[in-house]
Amino acid sequence: MQPRILAFAGSLRRESFNKRLVPIAAKGARDAGAEVTLIDLKDLSLPLFDQDLEAEQGIPENGKRLKQLFINHDGLLIACPEYNSSITAVLKNAIDWVSRPIPDEPSLVAFKNKVATLMSASPGALGGLRGLTHVRSILSNIGVIVLPEQIAVAQAHEAFNPDGSLKDPKQQAGIEGLGHTLASFLMKLKG
Ligand SMILES: Cc1cc2nc3c(=O)[nH]c(=O)nc-3n(C[C@H](O)[C@H](O)[C@H](O)COP(=O)(O)O)c2cc1C
Repeated sequence: MQPRILAFAGSLRRESFNKRLVPIAAKGARDAGAEVTLIDLKDLSLPLFDQDLEAEQGIPENGKRLKQLFINHDGLLIACPEYNSSITAVLKNAIDWVSRPIPDEPSLVAFKNKVATLMSASPGALGGLRGLTHVRSILSNIGVIVLPEQIAVAQAHEAFNPDGSLKDPKQQAGIEGLGHTLASFLMKLKG
């Protein structure tokens, strides 16, 4: 069975370096036989999670849409910017909305038994590596299998060609390889 992968970045920034990693990893996943859906969290305009808002108005339509996208896919490719050594508020906010249950639904249905691969890009020397540790921990704690392979692209402001590819062919192959590995893993899992 063809695995389905949802791919996105934890940034709203138009020129986001992390958004640029997503299609590269997606190409690797498609080449390995997966169907990949690319989304931009900016298109969803999710409000800040507020339990009062949820109690009064329920999960916003775009929160429900995002949750359904998670449910409909087997794998997640997430490019994670690092803010103050950790996860961005945008990514955590999306995870928090998607984690909210509706009555009679199994707990954390959008996360349990999903498989994720993480990557990051930053203008800094560590490429966002410290933030990946936190994202890995959060996702693991809500039932996601996070694959061990990950790549943090340092000096991201100098790393990309104008066409969106990475200047370093090894790095380009590495990011494509992340997508490939996730797709191959999912194919083995689905049998
Ligand atoms: C509030 C804030 C905190 C940041 N903290 C870090 C950090 O801890 N480590 C890092 O490498 N870059 C940090 N940066 C720089 C980001 O890596 C940089 O803005 C990057 O472009 C964000 O990813 P994006 O291009 O995908 O939006 C920070 C940026 C902001 C706005």
